[in-house]
Amino acid sequence: MALSDPHSFVDLQQSKITHIDFMLTVDFATKTIQGVAAYRLEKPVQGSLFLDTRKLIIKKAHHNGEALKWDIDQEDPIRGQRLHLKQLNNVFEFTIEFVTDVEASALQWLGPEQTSGGRHPFLFSQCQAIQARSMFPCQDTPSVRFTFTAEVIVPEPLIAVMAAAPVSIRAQDGQNHCRFEMPQSIPSYLFALAVGMIAAKDISKRCRIYAEPNILDEAAWEFSETEAKLIEAERLFGPYEWDRYDILVMPPSFPYGGMENPRLTFVTPVVIVGDRSLTDLVTHELAHSWTGNLITNATWEDFWLNEGWTTYAQMRIDEVLDGRDYAQMKSALGREAMMAAMKRFGMDSDLTKLTYPMEGIDPEEVFSTVPYYKGQAFLEAMEQAVGRKEFDAFVSKYIETYKFQSITTEAFLSFLAKELPDAVDAVDINLWLYEPGFPEGAPVIASNLIDEVDASLQAYHQGDRPKVREVRGWNTDQKILFFRRLPKSIPLEDVIDFEDAFNLKQSRNYAVLFLYFALAVRSGYEDILPRVEDFIRTVGRGYHLRPVVQAMVETQWSRPLIKPMIERYRHRHHPLTVRMLEQILEKAGL
Ligand code: BES
Ligand code: ZN
Repeated sequence: MALSDPHSFVDLQQSKITHIDFMLTVDFATKTIQGVAAYRLEKPVQGSLFLDTRKLIIKKAHHNGEALKWDIDQEDPIRGQRLHLKQLNNVFEFTIEFVTDVEASALQWLGPEQTSGGRHPFLFSQCQAIQARSMFPCQDTPSVRFTFTAEVIVPEPLIAVMAAAPVSIRAQDGQNHCRFEMPQSIPSYLFALAVGMIAAKDISKRCRIYAEPNILDEAAWEFSETEAKLIEAERLFGPYEWDRYDILVMPPSFPYGGMENPRLTFVTPVVIVGDRSLTDLVTHELAHSWTGNLITNATWEDFWLNEGWTTYAQMRIDEVLDGRDYAQMKSALGREAMMAAMKRFGMDSDLTKLTYPMEGIDPEEVFSTVPYYKGQAFLEAMEQAVGRKEFDAFVSKYIETYKFQSITTEAFLSFLAKELPDAVDAVDINLWLYEPGFPEGAPVIASNLIDEVDASLQAYHQGDRPKVREVRGWNTDQKILFFRRLPKSIPLEDVIDFEDAFNLKQSRNYAVLFLYFALAVRSGYEDILPRVEDFIRTVGRGYHLRPVVQAMVETQWSRPLIKPMIERYRHRHHPLTVRMLEQILEKAGL
């Protein structure tokens, strides 16, 4: 079946990459990786093979010691540059030598001052959605899977870690040669590498935490429940297929909360707050081990198959571990964030659809919470229609049938029609998948934890501020919900009072603070500026940064301050974060 991925130059009729052997030399002085990659294909190629690249410098391509003809013959702003290997004569193995660009969009090179240890540089990759092509030539579509080995050469005393099995480390001439093997096949977007002063601590037989030495113990404590989550997830979704589940704690400029790189989830250090209250993020990334990493969206148009399913799976794990009230509250928070996003886009915008044609659209640009929470609600609607027992049997069969495969929304639909016809009869599939907006008959969310917050909000609207006593008993998500449901701006005295009532002066919990900062800015609390500045300087997680920057842009007193502030710290941030920040400024006419 011909599959067309609008975000890749590849032609899957030519052949598919099945395996790559990498040799990668990491050079912090020039901020480049020199790579030699030996590829193996599914079937020999006669004629042309197209690969994706972006700003890669190709040095050589050869086959059995003979040079291959190649050209960079197509270029576009979203897909990058097409590498065209030409006049191939029955080639099923070949080698490419290349160097990454200083501005490779998959890579962030950090100076020592951007790490928590402060003494050594750090490098990490983030390939989802279409950045792998800036690291190595590949068929950069999630519909192609390959295994790999890698030797990564880094300066001592740094080490490399990868989303793969570590095999050995050998020191030679001031360099560490770190070897890896990836026995499970992955799509290119799950290729991941980090290099730094990294230490490790086991928290169970198959879970290990990697972090800079000075935060390792704290991190190991925060994530100590990971094995328990894994066990629950296996009960729900079947055997864990990736052998190990390790976690790498990233520098704070990591642009996402978490990234489900197989065998080695990357997480932002911002979730380490000393009370495990934000580790639900690990539940999400771990759930991707089934939904996303085992069954993968075939193109980025099918992204809801990754994130909607994972948000659903995460909710199911939450229910078992923390109870239904808690899981429902998380769903409410997600849905509220999504509804706010939909309103921003316009309720009839394509961006509110679960899937739509994305030709000419950069997936990074349209990334939002819609596939997450609309996807989750869609799956829950089907679950409610047929009952949990029947739905769970469907889920098991779905995973068993499609594991280690990439599928389209349409393939999912045919499977659904065959295996769960009752859901197709009861739920308006077309409305959920292809229409804009949020269906009225969506599953209703209810939780006592939400009711408690609403009672305080109601009292507040009648002139009664929440008291320290009542608020201290709330969990983090209740605080988040409270700030989400407040008006965009409130009287200055109230903002100042909340800072004490919610104990925010000492807090480093940015999951609450980012909402508070946005509220404080909009409410004219100018004294908050140094803390906001500190936040904008260090935190790279887009989900947190965006609303605060947006608030500064839209508020009179802070509007002239934001552009110079971003200029001051731009060099500290990830290329994706910088682009996101610049877009906010541009849209605001700054
Ligand atoms: N796979 C995503 C992160 C991602 C999506 C990176 C698209 C690049 C492009 C990851 O699983 C994720 O969803 N992370 C969320 C956290 C989650 C708890 C909602 C994040 O980083 O905010
Ligand atoms: Zn996810």
